[in-house]
Parts: sequence; C-alpha cells; structure tokens
Amino acid sequence: MKTALITGITGQDGAYLARLLLDKGYRVYGTSRKSEPEGRWRLVETGVLGNDSLRFCEHDITDFSSNLRLLEACEPDEIYNLAAQSYVGLSFKQPLVTGAVNGLGPVCLLEAIRILNPQTKFYQASTSEMFGKAEDSPHNELGPFFPHNPYGAAKLYAHFMTINYANAHSIFASSGILFNHESPLRSKSFVTRKITDSVARIRLGKMDCLELGNLDVYRDWGYAKEYVAGMWKILQAPTPGTYVLSTGRPKTVRDFARLSFSSVGIELDWVGDGLNEVAKDRHTGKTVIRINPQFFRPTESERQVGDADKALRELGWKAETTLEQLCSLMVEADIRRCEKEA
Ligand code: GDD
Repeated sequence: MKTALITGITGQDGAYLARLLLDKGYRVYGTSRKSEPEGRWRLVETGVLGNDSLRFCEHDITDFSSNLRLLEACEPDEIYNLAAQSYVGLSFKQPLVTGAVNGLGPVCLLEAIRILNPQTKFYQASTSEMFGKAEDSPHNELGPFFPHNPYGAAKLYAHFMTINYANAHSIFASSGILFNHESPLRSKSFVTRKITDSVARIRLGKMDCLELGNLDVYRDWGYAKEYVAGMWKILQAPTPGTYVLSTGRPKTVRDFARLSFSSVGIELDWVGDGLNEVAKDRHTGKTVIRINPQFFRPTESERQVGDADKALRELGWKAETTLEQLCSLMVEADIRRCEKEA
C-alpha cells in the first residue's frame, strides 16, 4: 500500500485527488490549516470523509518544523502540494502572505524531503498565472513566464525551486502547470462557480441579476476531476519533469456565462457597452447580468491558453470534457443544491 500526502485536501483539487488515490488503494494523509476547515463539505461530496484509509493532519506549510513533523509522522511515498493562497484577486491585497504560502511554503516541504527522505516524490501545483502577461500563446512548459500579480510571481518562484531541487538534489520533484480547472466543488469566489450558482438561482426565481467584472478575458477552462488524474500521472512518469495541463481552447467569461444560461434554456442578448453593458433574457427582457467595477483587477492576465501536447505524448493525458458539458454539469449541481436549500 502506497502512502500519499495531500496538502490542502479540503480544496476542490484535494477532494477529487483524495477520491482518486483512495480508489487506487493508497493510504492518504490530508492536511489543512484548521482542524474544522470550511472546505470539509467537499470531502462529503466526494464520499471520502470517514474512509478508514484517510487521516487528517492540521498543518501550516509556512512553519518549517510543522513540515518536518508531518513528514516524520506520515512517511509518504508521494506528496501532492496543493496548499495555497489560491485567490489571484486577494493576492494584490495580501502579497506577503501569498509569497510566504505559495512561494516559500513549497520550499519548506522540499527541504523537509531533502533532510528526511530524498526518495519521496513531490508534486508542485504550478499555474498558468505564471505566464501572466507573456503574449506567445498557447503556452507550453518552456514559457515565456511573465507573472502579472503577486499570486503568479510567488508560484513562479516555487516552480523554479521545484526544478532546482530535482536538478541539485536528485529529488523526484515535478511541477504541473495547470490552466483553470473547474467543477461543482469550486468556491463561489471564482468566476465559473459564481456564474453557475447565479444561473441556478435566477432559473429558480431566487435571484434577479448577476454582477461580473471583466467579461472579455480569455481563460482555458477544463474539468478539475480530469486534472487531478493528470497530477497522479505526473508522479508516475519515469523521470521528474514539468507538464502543462490544459484544454487548448480559449474562451471568454462572456462565453462561459452564455453557455451556462443556455444550459437552462435562457438565451442572452447583450446590450450597451463598457461598464453599462448588460445581458438580458431574450424571452423575458429582464436584465440578468450587469457589470460591477468592484470585480475588476488592478492588472489582468488577458489571455490564457495552454498547449498540453507534452502531457499527451508522455503521459497519455488529455482534457476530454467540453466547455458546454462543464457548464451544464456545474449548473445542474447548483440547481440540485438550491432546490435542497428550499
Ligand atoms: N473571481 C471573479 N469574479 N473573476 C471575475 C469576475 C468576478 O465577478 N468577473 C470577471 N472575472 C474574471 C477575472 O478578472 C479573471 O480574469 C477571470 O474572470 C477568472 O477569474 P477566477 O475565476 O477568479 O480565476 P483566476 O483565473 O484568477 O485563477 C484561477 O485559476 C488559476 C489557474 O488555474 C485560480 O484557481 C488560481 O488559483 C489558479 O492558479
């Protein structure tokens, strides 16, 4: 029986990855900063809470001794480092916390591996935000990198430290550069789930109008469940490396909103421009989307699209779910939740 350690297990990816590893027969240790974490509901939704092979540990990735004690206690074969301050918008307001958790945190874990057991495999959750403002796209493992916010800058440091530990200390340390990946387990602070939750509420007559920021940024949105399978494959490769996981299809926030509304039979007409633009329900004429400048960011990664060719060639990994399917499955899950609330 292999042992895996997932830091940040109560996030979207942690919950799906725990399910996947338990199904593969792993013993899983999962960490979160609090003993009663907000994201516990995700472990209920994936059906892993209460599993005999799953253990929880309270852990702070920024505390080096906490990392040492954790690794001593769990003796993991594989570590998946998913713990992060994962909100790009918040990173502008909390740049130092973001740097400590997303930049130095992974190095604390790598140092602990180096000291205690260099045979431990390490996966670092890197991100498309490391490409940021870089214009050559689609982006692959080689860059160019030009992070455009404190979140991406901290993640880029951790990315190169992961590569450095593999090269300098022969540790099996790999990095997955994941483009946006979504699911019904997403927090509503991210734009996709904010949209699908609002679509469900508007459909059920519990809400009138959704407020969004920049509608015209491009993102490369895939289905998170498929992406955690990619993380596992990255650690099963014969040698450590960096892999981009993405769909390769650039779509705008406006596209995501259109497809989500359309999945419940609401077609949109866009009227006006700039901050005064609104989307109306074609059938009723009611305004269902308007712009709120509060949701704009000081700087924006305008166009994110990835090239996952290396992952296909070397790992046999490919994103399968279409954006239409993703929007539908997220809206359906939110409709079920809203109906239960009632
Ligand atoms: N959150 C949010 N809320 N974003 C909005 C809104 C809104 O009301 N309106 C427009 N947007 C735009 C943002 O400006 C951004 O360009 C885009 O929607 C996506 O924002 P998020 O869903 O917050 O995600 P993100 O792209 O910033 O970051 C996510 O993906 C990264 C890449 O995988 C996070 O999960 C990061 O942790 C992750 O690294």
